[in-house]
Amino acid sequence: MTHTDTGTTTAGGTAGTGGTGTTGPAADLRAAVDALESARRSTLALTDFDDAELTAQHSPLMSPLVWDLAHVGQQEEQWLLQVADPDRDPVFHPAIACLYDAFEHPRATRTQLPLLDARASRRALADVRARVLDALAASTPERSAFTAAMVAQHEHQHDETMLATHGLRAGAPLLTPAPTPPGRPVPAGSVLVPAGPFLLGADPADEPWALDNETPRHEVHVPAFRIGRVPVTNAEWAGFVAAGGYDDPRLWTGTGWAHRVAAGLRAPLSWEPDGAGWFTHRRFGVVRAVDPAEPVQHVDFHEAQAYARWAGARLPTEVEWEKACAWDPATGRRRRWPWGQAPATAERANLGGTALGPAQVGAYPAGASAYGAEQMIGDVWEWTTSRFEPWPGFSPMLYDTYSAPFFGGDYRVLRGGAWATAPAAVRPSFRNWDHPVRRQVFTGVRLAWDA
Ligand code: AVJ
Ligand code: FE
Repeated sequence: MTHTDTGTTTAGGTAGTGGTGTTGPAADLRAAVDALESARRSTLALTDFDDAELTAQHSPLMSPLVWDLAHVGQQEEQWLLQVADPDRDPVFHPAIACLYDAFEHPRATRTQLPLLDARASRRALADVRARVLDALAASTPERSAFTAAMVAQHEHQHDETMLATHGLRAGAPLLTPAPTPPGRPVPAGSVLVPAGPFLLGADPADEPWALDNETPRHEVHVPAFRIGRVPVTNAEWAGFVAAGGYDDPRLWTGTGWAHRVAAGLRAPLSWEPDGAGWFTHRRFGVVRAVDPAEPVQHVDFHEAQAYARWAGARLPTEVEWEKACAWDPATGRRRRWPWGQAPATAERANLGGTALGPAQVGAYPAGASAYGAEQMIGDVWEWTTSRFEPWPGFSPMLYDTYSAPFFGGDYRVLRGGAWATAPAAVRPSFRNWDHPVRRQVFTGVRLAWDA
């Protein structure tokens, strides 16, 4: 690490030391408790349905919703109560807790388990939460704030996973979308990111909620490149479909083409030709025309690569992506968000899960990065060419199986969060990952070019 003074002091900084200030450990812990409460509101809203909805296997790719519901409480108890006091009488007894171990039980098998029903799950969640709030109130904020924030982010991640489950569910709509700002015509197709050093990753001193795989911050040299000003749109993707992109093996890698054939891919997930040269798609129970101005969503890594080749471009690496998102070349420092230090708001990014879809491109000029790239945070997760590997000097956090078991697999890194991601669960340094064939996640594409 060449610098440690990047970014400005935040809630995790050292500016305040008192118990009642707006910065410092106590404020950090209050923010983490707020995130726990906000995650819980989402969890309960996404599971406020009858038992048949919650116990159904809506897709073999996803858990029944009642599994996610109890799993977040089981994990909260493990990291915020059991670690500190292993001898206490648990809410989730070992024989129950093991049902919620994601490594033991693949998603497709979870409806076969003797899971807690929805009522018992909600009661267990409330019980754990009450004990957690007591324990946190009695804790040393310096020690408990990060763990509380980590647990809050875990619950937020499952809220997004539950939105993906809702997205695959058949039947009448259960969720109602909130409006997003309209798009606008966006100037040039790409922005230049000149060559030069960049500080990659998070320093906990100014990004206290960064998870293990985001650290340590370290200097990297990135050759000049261009990156899309906005994500690839549905209109652009329809051009790829019309040009026969799904039928031309020369555009696909060998693995990608084999998957395209085996899975019968012809267009993004749920797109159907409307008989008049355009497409409809089904979104949370509502069938409607695909909006040409929205970022394309629900494409896998192989489709993204084929599209990029057809467009005379490539996908960015995750390092390029993070530099375009967070680096400010004028100051030689990172910004906390693409637009600066100010928090995410509805004018800056589409986050938080209420929109039920991405906003049109150009909807967030106030969210532009220093280089002029827009909608890097929110709307759709963006595929990168990077495999999921640790940064040099990686060390696992308390929840030590969050990242490490997934390094070195076939996963590709996804960046920036989607409309379904909570603001507390994403940052420019945040690294998501998934198998290259997955497309039920809220995935999209931003192109890059050598400069
Ligand atoms: C970070 C989204 C890849 O869901 O597999 C939730 C998050 N890890 N519980 C996943 C996670 C454990 C993880 N991703
Ligand atoms: Fe989990």
